[in-house]
Amino acid sequence: MRCDFFRLAFLFVGSSLGVKFGPRGDVDLSVVELIQKYEYPVESHEIETSDGYLLTMFRIPHGRNSIEPNTKPVLLLHGLFGQAANYIVGGQINASLAYILADKGYDVWLANARGSTYSRKHKYMDPDNDTDFWQFGWDEIGSIDLPAKIDYILETTGQESIYFAGHSQGGTSYFVMMSTQPEYNKKIRAAVLMAPAVNFRHLKVRLFLYLSRHFHLLQKLTKALQLYELPPFMRLIQTMLPTICNEQTIFQNLCKLLYSLFSGDATQLDPSLIPILLATLSPSSTRQVLHYAQLVLAGRFQPYNFGKKNNMLRYGQDSPPDYNVSRAFAPTAVFYGNEDVMVTNKDSEELCKSLPNLIMCHMVQGKFNHLDFITGIDAVELVYKYIIDIFEQQ
Ligand SMILES: *[C@@H]1O[C@H](CO)[C@@H](O)[C@H](O)[C@H]1NC(C)=O
Ligand SMILES: *[C@@H]1O[C@H](CO)[C@@H](O)[C@H](O)[C@H]1NC(C)=O
Ligand SMILES: *[C@@H]1O[C@H](CO)[C@@H](O)[C@H](O)[C@H]1NC(C)=O
Repeated sequence: MRCDFFRLAFLFVGSSLGVKFGPRGDVDLSVVELIQKYEYPVESHEIETSDGYLLTMFRIPHGRNSIEPNTKPVLLLHGLFGQAANYIVGGQINASLAYILADKGYDVWLANARGSTYSRKHKYMDPDNDTDFWQFGWDEIGSIDLPAKIDYILETTGQESIYFAGHSQGGTSYFVMMSTQPEYNKKIRAAVLMAPAVNFRHLKVRLFLYLSRHFHLLQKLTKALQLYELPPFMRLIQTMLPTICNEQTIFQNLCKLLYSLFSGDATQLDPSLIPILLATLSPSSTRQVLHYAQLVLAGRFQPYNFGKKNNMLRYGQDSPPDYNVSRAFAPTAVFYGNEDVMVTNKDSEELCKSLPNLIMCHMVQGKFNHLDFITGIDAVELVYKYIIDIFEQQ
């Protein structure tokens, strides 16, 4: 209903401003429809977590030109405001990690974190009406969702371990899982983390530095405003921006400017992907965002700060104890971009130093920013080829 209203209002305002509305191609397709459009097989799996969240995983069981199911499972986990589509939007320019892995013999599983587009569901709670639905952050995505998904994949495939690739928050969640449940190391054959969001001691985005200094205020403010899900006006963003930022409109440079503000250098951005990037933007809980602000402020990788009294109840001390990334002893590779303003070179190198079984710590050349791991024009040459090599060797 709401969606239709926004679209109609937008069509009206847009046409009077002279914006042309043509077919939107991939933009209006769901993940399943997209995968089918690019002629890959796709399955949809729903699992229930111990705390009642219903999570969808999409599976591409084999490549485009084969019939036999692949036997090497790999799980791909997206970043903040992302979803499974992150690993297939590059299909338009033949640069999708999911398709490349499927064609190379991998049984590809695409995760959707709780709260995101395809996992915005709970057995008892309604995300639109129960604010309790949103009382989670990436701690739960790492400590509850990720282990549940891994166990489901192992059970379904009869394998003993999987490969893992995560982007940004996907890496954060990986280390949360390993820190809280190191027994999962033996279920990971190799992990590749692209710009894992763990250390923020050298963050370069001034706006975020400024906001994080006011972490406690933001915590109170979002609570007072009852802002549990971000970004606000999600439907508006998903329906209007893909058309506004279309290649044919005069607004596209403005969209590019906004993009650069948050992710840095736009050399690797193919403008034809902007609409689908916006259309597949996905909701996150406010706590996911606040928790990152906390990491910036604290300069440490630690669980969420619930305030002194509640920290004492949860952690037995008045400030949160650090996560321990050294517990991730499965073979791990880290990729980071030389132009990433969020997860910087120095922070990534510091992370690499604390990993006990590091197989590669690689700075991607070619003006790579935080989002280029998903849509970079040269992502195949500069990143995905290495990922395949790493997996083949483990
Ligand atoms: C992608 O690959 C397909 C099949 O090889 C080819 O037909 C198509 O032209 C390619 N598209 C681009 C944008 O390179
Ligand atoms: C959620 O609330 C809206 C409006 O308050 C109502 O129309 C809708 O039926 C509710 N949904 C559920 C599942 O209870
Ligand atoms: C972190 O984990 C490693 C590996 O298990 C262990 O050797 C180290 O003592 C731990 N560090 C802390 C501070 O607990």
